[in-house]
Amino acid sequence: MENTTENGIEKPSKPKKTVLIGITGGIAAYKVPMVARGLIALGMDVYAIMTKSATEFVTPTTLSSLTGHPVYTDLFEGNIASNNININHITLADKADLILIAPATANTIAKLAHGIADNLLTSTVLAATSPVLVCPSMNVNMYTNKLTQDNISMLESAGMYVLEPGEGELACGWKGKGRLPEPERIVLEARKIISTNDLSGIKILITSGPTLEDIDPVRFITNRSTGKMGQAITEAACLRGASVKVITGPVNVNYAPWAKVIEVRSANDMFNAVKEHLDWADVLIMAAAVADFVPSTYKKQKIKKLNSVTYKLELTSSTDILASIKDKKGKKIFVGFAAETNSLEKNAGKKLEAKALDLIVANKVGSKGSGFASDTNTGSIISPSGTVQRFKLMPKQRLANKILDLVAERLV
Ligand code: CTP
Repeated sequence: MENTTENGIEKPSKPKKTVLIGITGGIAAYKVPMVARGLIALGMDVYAIMTKSATEFVTPTTLSSLTGHPVYTDLFEGNIASNNININHITLADKADLILIAPATANTIAKLAHGIADNLLTSTVLAATSPVLVCPSMNVNMYTNKLTQDNISMLESAGMYVLEPGEGELACGWKGKGRLPEPERIVLEARKIISTNDLSGIKILITSGPTLEDIDPVRFITNRSTGKMGQAITEAACLRGASVKVITGPVNVNYAPWAKVIEVRSANDMFNAVKEHLDWADVLIMAAAVADFVPSTYKKQKIKKLNSVTYKLELTSSTDILASIKDKKGKKIFVGFAAETNSLEKNAGKKLEAKALDLIVANKVGSKGSGFASDTNTGSIISPSGTVQRFKLMPKQRLANKILDLVAERLV
């Protein structure tokens, strides 16, 4: 069952996942409360263990206030944010669906690599059967030191996940690799590790964003698509373990780091890219708003206004990508989108049939909170049998998962 907020946005109500965040003594510890917040916002239950030196950089009170749980720091004396002494490293290890260590110092990494369990965090990790995500952050020379690199390799060969640090200015004054990735990136990595992975082994080709059709070196025509829906599907598919390629028109969104991004400009570029990658895919999801009409000719010189009051621009219809790859469908699942202002389901149903789709997602354009540029969407998902699933206003992420649920049903 699902519940909704006052504004009608659906909230998932799956059992809560528990993430245990281990914070060690690095300056980047200041970013960790934001990681905790991000996980909690996704409905996860978050606990924190801090090493003694971590408490020099961020206070246990900050973490306990955010998580709503005591913060554990000592192997024997319970925790310093409450007097609860019943929790030990085994209890904490057993609770976790994921242990996330951020920032992970060279010292903690070395201890973990060698099975040393001399504090609450290292003991908990040793006792845990859950996945462990380690986010190293330190001075560039400490990070590139062969001993640290060997230790990181040992963690990976023991089955732990290691998120590569970012490059840039470091708090120690050096420049290079060693920055803790941004909180959103850490949260995304954590989600991927604890996701269902039900699309593992499935190859999904997604088109996203608008296309741009050049008129002359200065001007072009385009549409209002921002790529947000394509971005949401890309992220959801990656989190569920699919291999994803996204063919995108020019957009300002960042696609999930695991997806291969293929950038195109025009409807014709997008058509060529789809043809090139279609053989690879098990599933094609055409979320892009492809131009239906493109300038008949491209003027190499800027069109001058001279004294004219009007200018006639001749447009020619572009190739309908979905319609022209129908014969290559075979056992692949094809999903289309229909952006409509009126007669939503009727128009979408016609497109479903004409383009031989397995599903079409009909979007209402022009209503509040739905369609282009919005973070939410509303509309209907229609299948060839005539089944219509109407969905309320919901985040595009959630709609992306609904579409993928229906794709997954059709894959079996
Ligand atoms: N599409 C496509 N090639 C095009 C135009 C659209 O493959 N040249 C795809 C879109 O990516 C979408 C579906 O077809 O998945 C429907 O697109 P939409 O713009 O809603 O409909 P059209 O078929 O273009 O029809 P109309 O513009 O008349 O509504």
